[in-house]
Amino acid sequence: MRYGAPVETRICGYGQDSEGDWIAELECGHTQHVRHRPPFQMRPWVTTPEGRESQLSSRIDCPLCDRGEPVPTRVAAPSVRILAVCGSLQAKSRNSELVELACRSAPRDVEVVSFDGLRDLPHFDPDLEADGELEPVRKWRSALSASDAVLIASPEYGHSLPGVLKNAIDWVIGSGELESKVVAITAVVPSEERGRRGLQALADTLNAVRATIVGGEPIARGPDFSLRTAQLLAELVAVALRARAEKT
Ligand SMILES: Cc1cc2nc3c(=O)[nH]c(=O)nc-3n(C[C@H](O)[C@H](O)[C@H](O)COP(=O)(O)O)c2cc1C
Repeated sequence: MRYGAPVETRICGYGQDSEGDWIAELECGHTQHVRHRPPFQMRPWVTTPEGRESQLSSRIDCPLCDRGEPVPTRVAAPSVRILAVCGSLQAKSRNSELVELACRSAPRDVEVVSFDGLRDLPHFDPDLEADGELEPVRKWRSALSASDAVLIASPEYGHSLPGVLKNAIDWVIGSGELESKVVAITAVVPSEERGRRGLQALADTLNAVRATIVGGEPIARGPDFSLRTAQLLAELVAVALRARAEKT
């Protein structure tokens, strides 16, 4: 039940959810999504770093304060955030099993978030952006920007990488979200000699954006599957942390 005027607070920072949408951190201790979804929610400022900066300290109603909801205990942000991408679209995908395993078994301080929007991306065509960024492309770019590193598990199709994955990478070659990113790549295969040409093709494409490639070996289904996945994830985290330390 509401009594009197809505409770006002101020924006004091920002975070992003797994879809790359922005969340305002409020002085009251609550958080609130701040989306730009015309014509329903008009917040063009949230789409640029300058716009977000300009809204720091601005007043905002807090419905959670209105309802008297307690402020959640702050959980420290995970130290490494990894975006996991499966190159296969089929429902019973072995590669998506690896992605799901990585999400479930991430060690403490590591958050692995899966991105499943590859099927929503249109065929790459820069003309499609003449009137602004398309929503599926925005989500893909934001999810990449919000991550410290990327894990890609992908099948080999026709001695190469799947078209849907190449298409997704093409969408960010010009905009730069994969530029110099740390990216672990693998392919879940029935036996170790399979999938290597697909991985080589994927590595060649990632080299175009100067990605630091981790792993690159197929992982065979079998008793070592979980161990090999955990080892790849651990190597990815180590390289991502090293890259971060070198930047600061
Ligand atoms: C259209 C098509 C092309 C394929 N081409 C290759 C190939 O060139 N080399 C290979 O090792 N496997 C190839 N495969 C087998 C896939 O890599 C294999 O089915 C893989 O498990 C699919 O991954 P998923 O289970 O994650 O969907 C192909 C499969 C399909 C459907």
